[in-house]
Amino acid sequence: MRLNITVLPGDGVGSEVTREAVRVLRTVLDLYGYEVSFEEHAIGGVAIRQFGTPLPDETKHACTNSHAVLLGAVGGPEFDSLPPGQRPESGLLALRQALGGFANLRPAIAYAAIADCSPLRPDVLKGADILFVRELLGGIYFGEPRGFDASGAAAHNTMRYSETEIERVAHVAFRQARMRHRKVTSVDKANVLETSQLWRKTVTRVAREYPEIRLDHMYVDACAMRLITHPGSFDVVVTENLFGDILSDEAAVISGSLGMLASATIGGKVDLYEPVHGSAPDIAGRGIANPLGAIASAAMLLRHSAGLEQGAQDVEDAIREVLDKGFRTADLSPQHSADPQRGRTKRVVSTAEMGALVESTVADVVDRRRAYHAV
Ligand code: IPM
Ligand code: MN
Repeated sequence: MRLNITVLPGDGVGSEVTREAVRVLRTVLDLYGYEVSFEEHAIGGVAIRQFGTPLPDETKHACTNSHAVLLGAVGGPEFDSLPPGQRPESGLLALRQALGGFANLRPAIAYAAIADCSPLRPDVLKGADILFVRELLGGIYFGEPRGFDASGAAAHNTMRYSETEIERVAHVAFRQARMRHRKVTSVDKANVLETSQLWRKTVTRVAREYPEIRLDHMYVDACAMRLITHPGSFDVVVTENLFGDILSDEAAVISGSLGMLASATIGGKVDLYEPVHGSAPDIAGRGIANPLGAIASAAMLLRHSAGLEQGAQDVEDAIREVLDKGFRTADLSPQHSADPQRGRTKRVVSTAEMGALVESTVADVVDRRRAYHAV
């Protein structure tokens, strides 16, 4: 099998972390006998500077003609004064629309080895493993009308959802729950918003096709609190675009760093993989960004776009093993840790060193498993 992957490093730390994800992907795909080609293109601020637009046609074409897209991050302070439609972020939103993926999977896992990076108590964190399924192509992000009033002194956005948009993402959530702990929490604001009332009614109807899955509903404000007080009580969380954006960043507290979080956008023509973190301009170019979110996104690519479930697990095992051995990027380093005593045994590594560690560990993981099956 031959895979063509479009790589969009984007802005800030994007190029630093995607480099490491590509390195790991190359190695794993090679170990599984896959041929792969990577083609880099511009998106976001880089594309604005080079081509005057955040999503050049050439980039869009390359993406729609590949097997999967791996993206770093977009955005930067120099574009802050631009109107929403001209900012680097609008390139990403336009790409999501062009690819058509409506279900954004964002796992938030409490890794035991880095529990001390979370401000939450270890007993609260224990076993937390949540899959957010965020609706990605609807809601207030894309609803019309939108804009500033003529005076410029008022502005409006529209939150809109159709049954079809809700149904299709609900199906993804229930199917994911089947492979996990068979529980779906649907998050809305049905006490205030009509879109949420439609959301709740539609998800409840779709649930009838999945009698083996437990469904509960939660208001988004209550969910925001419960994620922190009882993160272990969730399995799959399905929610609309903006709520999902906010809650998935909040869930970084569970993993200990935003740098750990991965995502996969599925359901469209071509699936898109990107870490949840942004371009982090404050640390860009220093080689200290955490590549594990990007590498874990690459694992999701192996799972959803290459059909390599085992390869995906190998990468996830390698990430765990590297953390268990005490290797940390700066965001996970002792000064960020709530427990400096334990922190002293850790070794802080650069972005590239972390990538190399995962790469060599994943090769070990595969070797060990093959040796085990050979006896
Ligand atoms: C994310 C980001 C994007 C979003 C931005 C960069 C448009 O915050 O992927 O979570 O809001 O979806
Ligand atoms: Mn976000």
